[in-house]
Amino acid sequence: MNDNISHNASQISNNTIYLPSCHSTNTYASDWIKDNEVTNGWTVYTFDQTKGRGQQGNVWESEPNKNLTFSMVLKPDFLNPKDQFSLNMAVSLAIIQFLADLGLKAEIKWPNDIYVNNRKIAGILIENQLLGNVFKAAVVGIGLNMNQKEFKTHGATSVFLQNEKEFDLVQSLSYIQTILFRYVERLRTGEIALIKKEYHSKLYLRNKPSVFKCGDDSFVGSIKGVGESGMLQIQTENGLLSFGLKEIKFPTNYFN
Ligand code: BTN
Repeated sequence: MNDNISHNASQISNNTIYLPSCHSTNTYASDWIKDNEVTNGWTVYTFDQTKGRGQQGNVWESEPNKNLTFSMVLKPDFLNPKDQFSLNMAVSLAIIQFLADLGLKAEIKWPNDIYVNNRKIAGILIENQLLGNVFKAAVVGIGLNMNQKEFKTHGATSVFLQNEKEFDLVQSLSYIQTILFRYVERLRTGEIALIKKEYHSKLYLRNKPSVFKCGDDSFVGSIKGVGESGMLQIQTENGLLSFGLKEIKFPTNYFN
């Protein structure tokens, strides 16, 4: 049994539970759905995440009681696994919309970091569970820096640092859940192409010549968009090239 289950979980609504403390809401959610049936949108959140996990084995740090750290379980059984990146797109756009409603213009640093004024304000960790050709579940973990005023991590920011306003965390969570649902519904009703177009329009450094690192090499190119499987497409002097997550490091500088 997952040791967090004894952490005094309380049920906020039928599909949202609160944990006073949790190592990682993504790990909790993944463990929970092994043994329990949950409805689409089931969410677990905490304001004290002690071992937050990020992309590529990184750690996600969040000062207690300042930020949103939660995981939502989605059941995108209507999505062909080959289209799974469309879920990343929908989730990224939902966060962009949420931040826009708080007065912030955010961008998506491919594949799914959210930036405001060249600083990271939110990170997304989506863990997909596929059974053969069926998209059984996706654990969508979101860390969104809300009211934190200082960061040890270089290049991080928060809603407060960007617009000097603090927001109620529970209300914010409920609001972003609604927006996430709306975006996932758009996928369900077949709006993948529109969502992709929107995602492209919010891509950080799109069409701006930038320096990329690939292994020991650097090259100049311009981000054009993402391909079918979510690979990043960059226009270079050798044509349009596609890169996967681990193949490329993001611009160290760029020329406007
Ligand atoms: C990243 O930017 O590398 C992704 C960060 C994702 C962090 C969130 S916080 C809630 C959920 N639980 C985790 O352990 N990670 C995600």
